[in-house]
Amino acid sequence: MTAATRTALITGASAGIGASFARQLAAQGFTLLLVARRVDRLKALAQELIDAHGIECKVFAADLTDASAPRDIMAYAAEQGLCIDLLINNAGLSGHKKFVDTPWSELAGEIQVMITAVTELAHLVAPAMIERQWGRIINVSSLAAFAPPGESLLYSAIKTYVLILSESLDMELKPHGIHVTALCPGFTKSEFHDVMGTRHTANKLPAIMWQQPDDVVKEALDAVMHGKPVCVPGRFNKFSVAMMRPLPEWARYRIGKVANPFK
Ligand SMILES: NC(=O)c1ccc[n+]([C@@H]2O[C@H](COP(=O)([O-])OP(=O)(O)OC[C@H]3O[C@@H](n4cnc5c(N)ncnc54)[C@H](OP(=O)(O)O)[C@@H]3O)[C@@H](O)[C@H]2O)c1
Repeated sequence: MTAATRTALITGASAGIGASFARQLAAQGFTLLLVARRVDRLKALAQELIDAHGIECKVFAADLTDASAPRDIMAYAAEQGLCIDLLINNAGLSGHKKFVDTPWSELAGEIQVMITAVTELAHLVAPAMIERQWGRIINVSSLAAFAPPGESLLYSAIKTYVLILSESLDMELKPHGIHVTALCPGFTKSEFHDVMGTRHTANKLPAIMWQQPDDVVKEALDAVMHGKPVCVPGRFNKFSVAMMRPLPEWARYRIGKVANPFK
C-alpha cells in the first residue's frame, strides 16, 4: 500500500499539532479526513492542501465532547467511501482551574474528548485495519504522563491513561500489522496555552523547553511507521523522561507539589 492509497483521520486538525499532521501527511500523498469544531479553519486548510498537493481532503465538524461524535465521524467516512488506515487521535485541551472549582460539565468534557473519544475511535477503526492487516494509530499523550503529578491537573491522569492504552493496544494489534504509538510531546508552540489560559506563564519558560509542531509531528510519523509504541519527541524531552522515570513515588509527589509552573 502506498501513501497515495492511504487515508488518515486527524482529530483536532484546525490548529497546532493536528494542522501540522495534516500538512505533513498531505505532502506524502495521504487522503485526509480532518475533524474539529472550527469548520471554517478546516475548510481553509483543506483547500490549501488540495491546491498544494492535489490530494483528496474532506472535513467534518464535530464537537468531541458530544458522545455521538466518534460514530458520526465514522458514519461520514463510510458515506464518503473512506476507509481509515491512519488514525491520529490528537484533539485535546487542559483545564486550569482547581478540581472542585471546575464545573462537572467541563471535567466530563475533558474526559470525553481525551479518553472516551480516543478509545472509541480506536475501537471503531481497528476491525477494518485487522481485515486489511495494515493500520497505524497515533494517540497524542503528553510529557505530563511521565512528569510528577500536578495539583489540580486532571490532564496528567488523562494523558497517563492515553500512554498506557496505546502501549496495550500496540501489544494486542501488532500481530495484525497495526502499530499504535503514544506521542508524548513536551511544550509545543500551538494554541494550547491560549486555550488553557496559561500563555503568560508558559512564555516565561526557557526556549530549550519548546518545540515546533512540525518537529514533533515528523518524529511521531517516523515512530509509528517503525512500530515504536512510545514517542517522546525532542532531546530535551527525552532527557527529562530519563531523569523523571527512576524517581520513587514519594519524590515525584513532592516535586509535583512544589514545581507545577501553572499552580
Ligand atoms: N502544545 C503543547 O504544549 C502540548 C504538550 C503536550 C501534549 N499536547 C497535546 O497535543 C494535542 C494537540 O494540542 P495542540 O498543542 O495542537 O493544541 P491546540 O493548538 O489548542 O489544538 C487543539 C486542537 O484540538 C481541537 N479540539 C479541542 N477541543 C475539541 C472538541 N471538543 N472537539 C473537537 N476538537 C477539539 C481544537 O479544535 P477546535 O477548537 O476547532 O475544535 C484544535 O484543533 C492535545 O491532545 C494536547 O493535549 C500539547
